[in-house]
Amino acid sequence: MKIGTRFVASCLSLVVSVLTQDYSTSPPVYPSPPTLGTGWETAFEQANTFAANLSLEEKAQLVTGTSPGPCVGNIGAIPRLGFGGLCLQDGPLAIRLATYASVFPAGLTAAASWDRGLIFARGMFMGAEFKAKGSHVALGPVVGPLGRIGYGGRNWEGFSPDPYLTGVAAEETIRGMQQAGVQACLKHYIGNEQETQRNPDVSANGTTIEAVSSNIDDQTLHELYLWPFANGVRAGTASIMCSYNRLNGSYGCQNSKTLNGILKTELGFQGYVMSDWGATHAGVDAINAGLDMDMPGSTGGSPNASFFGGNLTQAVNNASVSQSRIDDMVLRIMTPYFFLKQDDYPPIDGQSPALNNNNPQNYRYQFTLGESDTDVREDHAQLIRELGAAGTVLLKNVNNTLPLKAPRSIGVFGNDAGDLVNGEYFSGSSFANQFGYEYGTLPMAGGSGAARLSYLVPPLDAIKARAFQDGTLVQYILNNTILSGPAKVRNRADGLGFILPVPDVCLVFLKTWASEGVDRLSLEADWNSTAVVNNVASYCNNTIVITHSAGLNVLPWANNPNVTAILAAHLPGQETGNSLVDILYGAINPSGKLPYTIALNASDYKFAPVTNSTELQGTEDPNAWQSNFTEGQLIDYRHFDYYNQSVLYEFGYGLSYTTFNLSDLQIESTVSGKPVTARPPLAATVPGGNPTLWAVLYVVNVTVTNTGNTAGAAVPQLYLSLPSTSQSNPTPVNVLRGFDKIFLQPGKSTTVQFPLARRDLSYWDTNLQDWVISSGAIAVHLGFSSRDLKLHDQVTVLVSD
Ligand SMILES: *[C@@H]1O[C@H](CO)[C@@H](O)[C@H](O)[C@H]1NC(C)=O
Ligand SMILES: *[C@@H]1O[C@H](CO)[C@@H](O)[C@H](O)[C@H]1NC(C)=O
Ligand SMILES: *[C@@H]1O[C@H](CO)[C@@H](O)[C@H](O)[C@H]1NC(C)=O
Ligand SMILES: *[C@@H]1O[C@H](CO)[C@@H](O)[C@H](O)[C@H]1NC(C)=O
Ligand SMILES: *[C@@H]1O[C@H](CO)[C@@H](O)[C@H](O)[C@H]1NC(C)=O
Ligand SMILES: *[C@@H]1O[C@H](CO)[C@@H](O)[C@H](O)[C@H]1NC(C)=O
Ligand SMILES: *[C@@H]1O[C@H](CO)[C@@H](O)[C@H](O)[C@H]1NC(C)=O
Ligand SMILES: *[C@@H]1O[C@H](CO)[C@@H](O)[C@H](O)[C@H]1NC(C)=O
Ligand SMILES: *[C@@H]1O[C@H](CO)[C@@H](O)[C@H](O)[C@H]1NC(C)=O
Ligand SMILES: *[C@@H]1O[C@H](CO)[C@@H](O)[C@H](O)[C@H]1NC(C)=O
Ligand SMILES: *[C@@H]1O[C@H](CO)[C@@H](O)[C@H](O)[C@H]1NC(C)=O
Ligand SMILES: *[C@@H]1O[C@H](CO)[C@@H](O)[C@H](O)[C@H]1NC(C)=O
Repeated sequence: MKIGTRFVASCLSLVVSVLTQDYSTSPPVYPSPPTLGTGWETAFEQANTFAANLSLEEKAQLVTGTSPGPCVGNIGAIPRLGFGGLCLQDGPLAIRLATYASVFPAGLTAAASWDRGLIFARGMFMGAEFKAKGSHVALGPVVGPLGRIGYGGRNWEGFSPDPYLTGVAAEETIRGMQQAGVQACLKHYIGNEQETQRNPDVSANGTTIEAVSSNIDDQTLHELYLWPFANGVRAGTASIMCSYNRLNGSYGCQNSKTLNGILKTELGFQGYVMSDWGATHAGVDAINAGLDMDMPGSTGGSPNASFFGGNLTQAVNNASVSQSRIDDMVLRIMTPYFFLKQDDYPPIDGQSPALNNNNPQNYRYQFTLGESDTDVREDHAQLIRELGAAGTVLLKNVNNTLPLKAPRSIGVFGNDAGDLVNGEYFSGSSFANQFGYEYGTLPMAGGSGAARLSYLVPPLDAIKARAFQDGTLVQYILNNTILSGPAKVRNRADGLGFILPVPDVCLVFLKTWASEGVDRLSLEADWNSTAVVNNVASYCNNTIVITHSAGLNVLPWANNPNVTAILAAHLPGQETGNSLVDILYGAINPSGKLPYTIALNASDYKFAPVTNSTELQGTEDPNAWQSNFTEGQLIDYRHFDYYNQSVLYEFGYGLSYTTFNLSDLQIESTVSGKPVTARPPLAATVPGGNPTLWAVLYVVNVTVTNTGNTAGAAVPQLYLSLPSTSQSNPTPVNVLRGFDKIFLQPGKSTTVQFPLARRDLSYWDTNLQDWVISSGAIAVHLGFSSRDLKLHDQVTVLVSD
């Protein structure tokens, strides 16, 4: 079909769907389904025994945060039953309120590595650090935001706008964390795609203006935003955090359709739902809709005033909340606790109260504090360095300018190259602005997903140390005002013109800040980055640009002929300089791939804008903030592929210092070509949903060969073209449904296997409310990016019904 026709057809169908569907309400789903402890049977028994001894007041205490406390979230102890309470700590890349702890690469870097093993190890090491600091629950990983909006302020905390890649990353992270003994908290459920108006506020005239409502159709919800949550539930996540935003007008933490219906019934989630901090807007209504724990348990900022707590005791006494519902809340919280053997757990680090800016004398409940400042880092720096390099994507490398070969002279430029000058903690409120601090490299971004560094290896320090080995001259200017200024300024004694001789290679470091609470205003790197690059490149014809960014960037200078190489280094964590030097000098062959698309222009991302305007900012209408997800599934590469739009660097793309080949595509049916039912065979729901959705129906084999002269890792990727369904929702051209990371010596080959599960081949049928395999042919593509598809075949599932 011609693009034009397809475009018109889809616009019409979207108009039809918007007109015929009602996004102003969420269907009621009651009562809240009780946990059966599926998969956690022994622990469920222990939780039942424990719960049987609790008074009503103790039950209410157990489901209600108490603050102040030593941790960012706290559940008070019940000493008479030997229960020491729960310590919940941020965040997705490190334990935030801690000293002598590691800062790992951000979720974005983990995703860019496409490396299951490293992602698992990251989860496990983070989990070990949380546990050693006495934190029972780690508030991560993040799969919402998924990354619908390029400007999203929190996209970097999560993984990728592709739900398959994000699903795998979440699953590996959760398994890693929980193997280490800490409870994971998968967040933010669901549709939390923008920071702007994420919470209600009060208008000039005193009206409460409600939080933004994410209005998402059922098919898009299932195929895009829910997909990675299903992986996380299947991986056994202990808890899930509900989000600030509304869905179809109903708050994320009291939406019975998403909590009771989709999460606890359809996905069979057996653990507990906790509120995001302050996201609880009701007691009885939220509890009956499926919310199990209120955090931090202080409504309106007054300590120990909660919609839960004493209000819940009263609600049970007057039967507005049933006895069985509060019992279920307790069992959902205590079962993972016993499953992970947290009844025998290290004490909370004694430094925690000070880091949380409070005093134990003011605590309502007694918390057991251990020694202060215990060092929990072990040898995790090694993994951090390795993953930082693995998540660095080589986008351009003209004439093999990289790896560096003992250059005589290097120039280093930009305010992202050097050490921090304003402190080593990225979460302070002073950071919640558009650009962060001017000087210092960006190893992570801001807000509750940031952490406190125990040390940092800045790029400039690591480059100097490495260059010294070759006797290389290293000159640098870190002031972007000088670098971006007009020639007159540049020729001053502190200007570019005084870097002599002209370096053999110029390294320009750019950064892009983002933080929880605000969305980005630009997709270009900050601090006049374009002028900085073009000025350096006008002087130095071998300019290499390195970006450290909290999300995607557009790169207006990418085709400058003097820009010979580009590295998207994302947010590598504490070893950032070492990770980069390993790539620059070829100690490690780059193998990162883009987990998002870099389009040609910022305007190419307008299909999913931040919902915002001057009018909305001044509204007196409580329901004014409506974010219609009218693009359906067509976000990121699904959008650009559907409209056949050129991009600069596509999803899945990334260069290497060697070359790889793909050959010998083989597809094998695991049911010997026998018919299968279109719908998954009925089976008792387990965490993750109907278990038959994960039954493997095909195995695809392909041979990968390293055809170059350097050892390195390839990332073969499998995409499917699923048949178009006759629904109002346009079907993406291709969707990722498999990937692997394969290290090969030069000349070596290996066979890679991609299992295709029933869910991978299905679409969500909104009428049947089930996953369905269509009868048409499914094209199978194997390649090295979403637009570098080398081998093609197809399968036609024989559907019996
Ligand atoms: C939101 O409304 C749309 C359109 O009626 C519907 O498809 C979807 O299931 C609703 N989602 C929720 C969570 O209520
Ligand atoms: C709770 O009660 C049961 C009997 O119902 C008893 O066996 C158990 O030891 C009690 N204590 C705790 C901490 O569970
Ligand atoms: C706010 O209240 C004032 C005084 O009642 C009124 O004149 C004004 O129109 C209101 N503004 C809006 C935006 O409703
Ligand atoms: C009950 O909830 C209200 C908010 O609706 C709060 O102001 C009050 O402090 C709560 N009571 C307790 C005992 O937490
Ligand atoms: C790359 O190599 C080609 C062929 O040797 C040469 O013409 C071109 O100028 C080189 N480009 C750069 C940016 O050095
Ligand atoms: C950066 O350069 C500008 C222009 O020369 C100057 O005004 C500013 O003080 C410099 N910043 C620092 C931190 O030196
Ligand atoms: C650099 O960018 C900032 C905004 O980020 C702007 O205020 C400033 O004028 C720019 N400086 C130069 C030298 O272009
Ligand atoms: C590239 O560098 C050379 C100096 O080697 C310079 O003369 C030329 O103008 C530069 N080109 C651009 C586009 O900056
Ligand atoms: C690049 O710059 C170097 C040093 O200024 C110069 O020797 C060389 O000829 C330039 N190469 C090109 C292709 O302009
Ligand atoms: C939202 O709109 C307001 C008013 O126009 C503007 O000041 C603000 O920067 C916008 N925020 C974003 C993230 O676009
Ligand atoms: C969102 O969709 C509703 C219909 O469901 C429509 O009334 C509203 O105008 C739309 N809002 C925007 C900003 O497009
Ligand atoms: C796929 O590869 C596996 C492992 O090398 C092999 O056992 C299997 O027979 C292969 N299947 C096909 C269809 O080539």
